[in-house]
Amino acid sequence: MKKVITYGTFDLLHQGHINLLRRAKELGDYLIVGVTNDNFDRERGKLNVRNNVLERVEAVRATGFADLVIIEDYVGQKIDDIQKYDVDIFAIGSDWEGKFDYLNEFCDVVYLPRTEGISSTQLRDQNQETVPVGIVGCGRVAQRFPQEADVVNGVRIVAAYDADIEVAREFCKNHLADGACCKSYDELLSRVSAVYIATPHLSHYECIKKALEAGKHVLCETPMVLKKDEAKELYKYAEEHSLVLMEANKTAHCPAFNHLMVMIKSGLIGDVVDIEASLSQLLDKSGREFDSKQAGGSLYEEGSYPLLPIFKLMGIDYEELRLFSRIENGIDVYTHGIFWYPKAVCSFKVGLGVKTEGNLVISGTKGYAYVPAPWWKTDYFELRYEDQNDNKKFFYKWDGFGLRYEIQEFVSCIVNRRFSSARLRRRESIAMAEVMEQFSDRKNFTEI
Ligand code: CTP
Repeated sequence: MKKVITYGTFDLLHQGHINLLRRAKELGDYLIVGVTNDNFDRERGKLNVRNNVLERVEAVRATGFADLVIIEDYVGQKIDDIQKYDVDIFAIGSDWEGKFDYLNEFCDVVYLPRTEGISSTQLRDQNQETVPVGIVGCGRVAQRFPQEADVVNGVRIVAAYDADIEVAREFCKNHLADGACCKSYDELLSRVSAVYIATPHLSHYECIKKALEAGKHVLCETPMVLKKDEAKELYKYAEEHSLVLMEANKTAHCPAFNHLMVMIKSGLIGDVVDIEASLSQLLDKSGREFDSKQAGGSLYEEGSYPLLPIFKLMGIDYEELRLFSRIENGIDVYTHGIFWYPKAVCSFKVGLGVKTEGNLVISGTKGYAYVPAPWWKTDYFELRYEDQNDNKKFFYKWDGFGLRYEIQEFVSCIVNRRFSSARLRRRESIAMAEVMEQFSDRKNFTEI
């Protein structure tokens, strides 16, 4: 039996794909089709794939040409698959001419004629509405946004607003040459269908509310709000009005972090019993981060990052959270939190005035995951076991400042009318606000 293998993304399956699959099948008796996993596509720079991997697998199956559909997950998998399935022919479209000659060592490589005049990119562009986005708050955090948005299809930054018009002007001059520099928030809202809010923490609630009431989708910097009821109210309003509201926690969209979460949930290190997540950054004490009137402090600034793996893996139904903080001039320069879950204990440390090892360690009954600093934007982690021969290292790509992944998800939610993202569930974002509130109420709290 002659076995043929081919690979592709097969997004918005079209006639070019069907022709390719038919021709590949005709080369032998058994066709294996490798469909790229969403994470793998993202790592390769394909940020705008519309159908998720399950939909794409189903579409390939439905053509009837594939005898076996597999998922392509990592660089170098093609060689592994060819040997594993004892493949005779590797087939791929002629747009890849010459690129896979290195596989000749393992099997025959055949480049099949590409169908002219159609591609997934073309279909995506045709169907894609472009979402005009406005930036609210033009400080340090917002400066990376325009260049990151540039690499994402379907989004255009058209306007910016800052309470300080000079700051807005400077921002527009340096980062938004074609955009409108708005004199008021109302003016900005009248020009866009979505906003990215990067104003000081305490203004988030009002800014989000106003944008939602004007019928705009919202991506808001983390921490979104500092009170549970405010978070609940805003998400409820957004849901009732079919608007996307997302907290911009970039770790939640980091490809390596997402893959780590999936692997751990699949049981690779057994039952999770302990999570330790730390993050510290010694900053200049004259900055906003040290100003108690602007909700400065370690927990507000950094807390939502270590809370993320804890809530993603253990859920939000903990028995108790104890907080220990060192307070200086009204803000916590260091906070250590300990969660007691029915069958686990998790802790996090955040510091603006205390330095600590910033890693993430997830301990399970079979092994543990180790993610070195900066784990919150990681491109690398390890799974470690008693027998060191079982240890595995995983490498990923982290492009630019990493904001592109959250922008892409935000746009995808808007375009596909998805009102909740699995990367950061509304309930997880609400639980983060609850932790912030417990801290400001000094509940279950000890000053050290
Ligand atoms: N293919 C083809 N003819 C086309 C489009 C794709 O023969 N008009 C082939 C590709 O050469 C590849 C397979 O179909 O072997 C899967 O390609 P994929 O990258 O998924 O499709 P594209 O339409 O090229 O996607 P994109 O525009 O995202 O690159």
